[in-house]
Amino acid sequence: MKVKKAVIPAAGLGTRFLPATKTVPKEMLPIVDTPIILHVVREAIAAGIEDIIIVAGRGKEAIEDFFDRSFELESQLESSKKEHLLSIVREIQSLVNIISIRQKEAKGLGHAVHTAKPIVGKEPFAVLLGDEIMFPKQQGDPTVTKQLCDIYEERQLSTVAVMEVAPSEVSKYGIIAHKENTSPYEVTGVVEKPSPEKAPSRLALPGRYIFKSDIFEDLENIPPGKNGEIQLTDAMAQLAARDGMLATLFSAQRFDAGDKFGFLQANIEKGLEQ
Ligand code: G1P
Repeated sequence: MKVKKAVIPAAGLGTRFLPATKTVPKEMLPIVDTPIILHVVREAIAAGIEDIIIVAGRGKEAIEDFFDRSFELESQLESSKKEHLLSIVREIQSLVNIISIRQKEAKGLGHAVHTAKPIVGKEPFAVLLGDEIMFPKQQGDPTVTKQLCDIYEERQLSTVAVMEVAPSEVSKYGIIAHKENTSPYEVTGVVEKPSPEKAPSRLALPGRYIFKSDIFEDLENIPPGKNGEIQLTDAMAQLAARDGMLATLFSAQRFDAGDKFGFLQANIEKGLEQ
């Protein structure tokens, strides 16, 4: 089965970027001139995704509006003959099918992903977190989501991206336990943000996943985990134990846009390129 749907959780409060995120969704903060979420959407499209489900929360209407038509702006650009800008604005609304749903309460990442269940149905699906932006290293290289889809389509097992991090960094991420093999690793467990002493490896989840729809059952069964939230990593651990899961190293130019330093780095590097 091919992966045709992707879920982008975008319901977080963006507290790390306050006060900017008091009224502007963190997903709309720009890397030079392009909102973070558009980079993430483009990554998904380049992997052949046809439907993108954005799980937003209250105060995030700007995301829906961004992918909608903008008649006043378009007619202004048209009458002032700003054709290049007009084509940029028009391209965004015709990129892909965007489906927007709401997570009514902030009960964690796992809960946000579960909100997409009625739309995803029984198909495998991708999850892309907007905290990290991944650009292909060279034009034409496959995106990280495409790299995951290729493995999924060959092996028919849930597949997630991992990267090696320093011991001092493991407490910022979900960390996998795996069998003694090479990438793609067979996942034997997943721990959310462990201390360096308790981390089962140094392979961290940067927020790119392909799941079979069975993960929804796991999300329904697990109790609240770290910080009292429904953790995606807890459901992943259950799914990996029952059905198997692969974790692969990937090739990409990666920026941690959920962090002020990473956000600035992405802006400087992409700004210099342009
Ligand atoms: C979430 C996940 C974590 C993952 C991380 C990647 O944490 O819970 O497993 O490694 O995203 O950015 P958050 O950064 O939302 O606290």
